[in-house]
Amino acid sequence: MNYNLSNIKKAKYYLDKNECIGFPTETVYGLAANAYSKKAALKIFKLKKRNKRNPLIVHYCSLKMLNNDCMINEEFLKLYKKYCPGPVTFVLKLKKNSNISKIVTNNKKTLAVRFPRHHLAIKLLKILKYPLAAPSANISSKISPVTKEDVKDEFGERIKFILDGGRSKIGLESTIVSLLGKPKILRLGGIERKKINKVLRKKILYKKNDKTIVVPGQLSLHYSPGIPIRLNKKKPKENEAFILIKKRKKTSKDYYYLSKKKDLKEAAKNLYKVLRNIKNKDYKSIAVEKIPNYGFGEAINERLKRASVK
Ligand code: TXA
Ligand code: MG
Repeated sequence: MNYNLSNIKKAKYYLDKNECIGFPTETVYGLAANAYSKKAALKIFKLKKRNKRNPLIVHYCSLKMLNNDCMINEEFLKLYKKYCPGPVTFVLKLKKNSNISKIVTNNKKTLAVRFPRHHLAIKLLKILKYPLAAPSANISSKISPVTKEDVKDEFGERIKFILDGGRSKIGLESTIVSLLGKPKILRLGGIERKKINKVLRKKILYKKNDKTIVVPGQLSLHYSPGIPIRLNKKKPKENEAFILIKKRKKTSKDYYYLSKKKDLKEAAKNLYKVLRNIKNKDYKSIAVEKIPNYGFGEAINERLKRASVK
């Protein structure tokens, strides 16, 4: 191929050949492939070692294209106008004549869709003839990537190309809102719960550990650095990494700070970076200080809880 092509064109080149690429978004990096192609979608599951029952999020850059695949409703439009492009995913009804591969949806009649805000993601989507299926670009149950290097850390040479978009600004996955019946939050994330409530002018359902959500990705160990995590601890054991919400006067090489001054947005942005950093050192376990459970703290605590499942 012609190596003078811009990176965006290189990304298109691989995607058009039904390959997977690393794809920058403002939340986390995705492992992207043509959502209309069975062959391409299968590669995502294989690379990630992902259970095929766990459907993928599909990324769009226009309502016109979304209209080919999904039924939209008033609640969707309200949230779309306010927060898209941005860190929110909607679960909608799939249209009968949609071209989305059945591998992407696990043969179900619903589709999770998202309009990423990252400028390179938008540029790329605009020149493609298909939307992109993209789960987070990590091996299943592991830590999500927020830089090109993190994607490499996960997959090594097994992916053909990573579009480098710098560090993800939000650093935490999108908030998932189901709009199938009564609106319901399925996953906390890049947009706070109260902001969704405000636009829809009601308190949206959100149940922690909701047993009615039968999507594998929302059940078991996830976001895991591969060593035990102990939550709500005041101090670490010897040779244990210690994650703190704000800087302390007395410091140690084993202390890892999520933010300078207990800023929960900053903490959310740093969470995966800190976990990956610790994972790549020699610690046998991690202790975490209590994190306030409001705003982005809710999403952080949800991730940490899942990462600490034994
Ligand atoms: O920020 C994000 O959402 C990132 C970036 C790359 O866009 N993507 C991401 O994808 O986090 P993934 O696959 O790691 O997480 C998607 C979650 C999974 O838990 C999956 O089970 C759920 O969305 N999901 C996908 N399709 C669904 C559907 N139709 N109904 C309910 N949940 C669905
Ligand atoms: Mg994921």
